[in-house]
Amino acid sequence: MRFDRLGHTCVIGLQWGDEGKGKVVDLLTEHFDASVRYSGGANAGHTVLVGREKFALHQLPSGILREGVLNIITGGTVIDPAVLLGEIASLRDRGVRVDANRLRISDRAHVVFPYHRREDVLAEGAARGDGKIGTTARGIGPCYADKMNRHRAIRICDLYRPAKLRERLSAIVAHKNALMRSVYSSDETFDAAKLADEYMEFAGQLRSFVCDTTVLLAELAKAGKRILFEGAQGALLDIDHGTYPYVTSSSCTGGGVASGAGVSSAMLQSRIGVIKAYSTRVGSGPFPTELRDGVGDTIRERGGEYGTTTGRPRRIGWLDLVAARYAALLVAPTHLALLHLDTLSGFEHVHICTAYRYGGELLNTLPADAYLLEEVEPIFETLPGWNSDLRGVRRFADLPETAKAFVRRISSEIGAPVGLIGVGPERDQTILVEDMS
Ligand code: IMP
Repeated sequence: MRFDRLGHTCVIGLQWGDEGKGKVVDLLTEHFDASVRYSGGANAGHTVLVGREKFALHQLPSGILREGVLNIITGGTVIDPAVLLGEIASLRDRGVRVDANRLRISDRAHVVFPYHRREDVLAEGAARGDGKIGTTARGIGPCYADKMNRHRAIRICDLYRPAKLRERLSAIVAHKNALMRSVYSSDETFDAAKLADEYMEFAGQLRSFVCDTTVLLAELAKAGKRILFEGAQGALLDIDHGTYPYVTSSSCTGGGVASGAGVSSAMLQSRIGVIKAYSTRVGSGPFPTELRDGVGDTIRERGGEYGTTTGRPRRIGWLDLVAARYAALLVAPTHLALLHLDTLSGFEHVHICTAYRYGGELLNTLPADAYLLEEVEPIFETLPGWNSDLRGVRRFADLPETAKAFVRRISSEIGAPVGLIGVGPERDQTILVEDMS
């Protein structure tokens, strides 16, 4: 993959998030002028290693770690100002420059309030059995629900109209307090006037970053700047097309880029689908290839598979190509980035799931019914593994033949060339692939 030939590009996960998008985006930002977050909020967690330093980003685009890159958070996201300001402060403490030349946020993005975070936690707590989604507790679902509902939503631009904000928050908070009491039998209450003061103070601190990001993106494109759209979560967590209801509340597929960023889909010249050499998911939901044994534990430890946002151990499974092929239908990747190939070293055999069996029938695509998906039997293809440590490999030709065969198989199943392979967490532990022969 030649980074200089990509044009405006989006990076989208083809699994349930945590595919390693942070690393891919971090490598790409050097070749781009702007890095854009277009969906989700502080539920995302991108881990980027720069030298010996580890940065965990939640709201900010990964381009914030590269001088010269303008970072943009657009209207399709939900912004928790307390989290965002905390993240900005901690980056500044570590010597990263964050000012209006480096960061812009949309005046149209929706705002996460403490009552959203509480509602998230209480709704999960009240859910029984498989009703729990296993959210990140960041208030994402309740905030997007209020956005769709419209009566109770506050956008960034609303924070700059004090009288109106106080009036609106007073009505919203009355509703939320009633909800706490009647639905969740909780006697905790929120104070509209205090929240208004607090959020106007946040708004003051964010003011220099706020703008119309659609206009900004159009101007950047017109000026010949290259724009990178950084996906959060993964296609299988998409609100419309993922393993509903075990999904997030935003659009994590190709279409989400255009609507969330406020650009035309015609703008996207390259779409990089990011996939891990195995599968992981955090939270509840069907996971046909899940490994509940020592193999899963080994992969979790080797791959450092613990949530960036919540610290939860991730669930581990063999690579599910039925799910990934479905994700690819939603994204139409021009290239694949295959991460964590090194993590699978040392297994005599590796397995890939190419179909499911359900009630004697063979399924080649992902069923809509998440409860049915819980019951399918994965059909595995077994491939020979490789023993050597791949972390020092920098050319496709130098990979063991069995690892090459594994990569080619994934590429042909998904129907897109592998352009990048991750063989370790560091920036330079990467193979750029021009040709897979
Ligand atoms: P929410 O986005 O916090 O509402 O969580 C809904 C589901 O999406 C849960 O299963 C979360 O674990 C999952 N999720 C949300 N964000 C991420 C992410 O960045 N990586 C992986 N899973 C995520």
